[in-house]
Amino acid sequence: MPSFPSYRPRRLRRTEALRSLIKETSIEPGHLIAPLFVTHEEGRHPVASMPGVSRLSVEAVVEEASSLHALGVGAVLLFGIPQQKDRRGQGAYASDGIVQQAVRAIKENKPQLVVITDVCLCEYTDHGHCGILTDAGEVDNDATLELLAQTAISQGEAGADIVAPSDMMDGRVAAVREALDAADLSGVAIMSHAAKYASAFYGPFRDAAGSAPEAGDRLGYQMDPANSDEAIREVWLDVEEGADILLVKPALPYLDIIYRVKLETGYPVAAYHVSGEYSMLRAAGERGWLDEEKALLEAAHSIRRAGADLIITYYAGQLARLLGG
Ligand code: PBG
Repeated sequence: MPSFPSYRPRRLRRTEALRSLIKETSIEPGHLIAPLFVTHEEGRHPVASMPGVSRLSVEAVVEEASSLHALGVGAVLLFGIPQQKDRRGQGAYASDGIVQQAVRAIKENKPQLVVITDVCLCEYTDHGHCGILTDAGEVDNDATLELLAQTAISQGEAGADIVAPSDMMDGRVAAVREALDAADLSGVAIMSHAAKYASAFYGPFRDAAGSAPEAGDRLGYQMDPANSDEAIREVWLDVEEGADILLVKPALPYLDIIYRVKLETGYPVAAYHVSGEYSMLRAAGERGWLDEEKALLEAAHSIRRAGADLIITYYAGQLARLLGG
């Protein structure tokens, strides 16, 4: 490594053109995924803790998806809020469930747009856990697998290109892969929430989806934020079970995990810039405490620099607009 004064890093920072010439990472709108909340209610219902984000009717979700597609956003990720919640989360795997309806409507309108569906029970259970409960109130891993598999099949049959299990049950990727293949849906890909941490940054999402656990927490199935090696074991399990894309969630507090997962697997990696990460930036931006657009671009570049191929973010539309100039 040469040293000063023969090497002067500032030489290549002198003008915008020079800086842009040596830029190492970029963000393509086509690599962005926009999460959307679908509801049975008519119209658009703003989520209080996520200014700019609304729960959308099927009709509104089709409009939103088509404007995101026009901006070049690569995919949408659908979360459903069912009319009724129950012990077994039946709305998740009903063939006419809210997400299944939304997939059909989007695919009818914009067949080229990639549609990803969340596979989980927490939005659909009255107790708010990601699986069904035993009499003792524990999340029953193996009994839940069957319902997750049914959920994935119903979404694949509706036309989803990719299903995204976010429940963190053990063995879910294999269960979903086997079920899809048996249902003649071997072309449906799996984006697994391979390393999903038990995070306080999901707070606003739980407001949006009404999915906060009624009792207890998710520490029994989501990962401990203190762990890193464990994430790698989770990720390899999902690879062995048939995952096509590996997801790390949240994003900014876990850039080291994104980096390791990309380096160690070489698989496509998606990072989920979650609701709390969105709300923090929005809140500070609204108060004028920081420049929201600049902070957003910096955050998105950091996630890409760490190794993520795809970024799931509530800012997808806004980012695509910023990048489109
Ligand atoms: C649960 C799920 C959660 C999110 C996506 N899927 C929340 C949770 O685990 O409680 C959070 C996403 C976000 O915060 O944006 N299946």
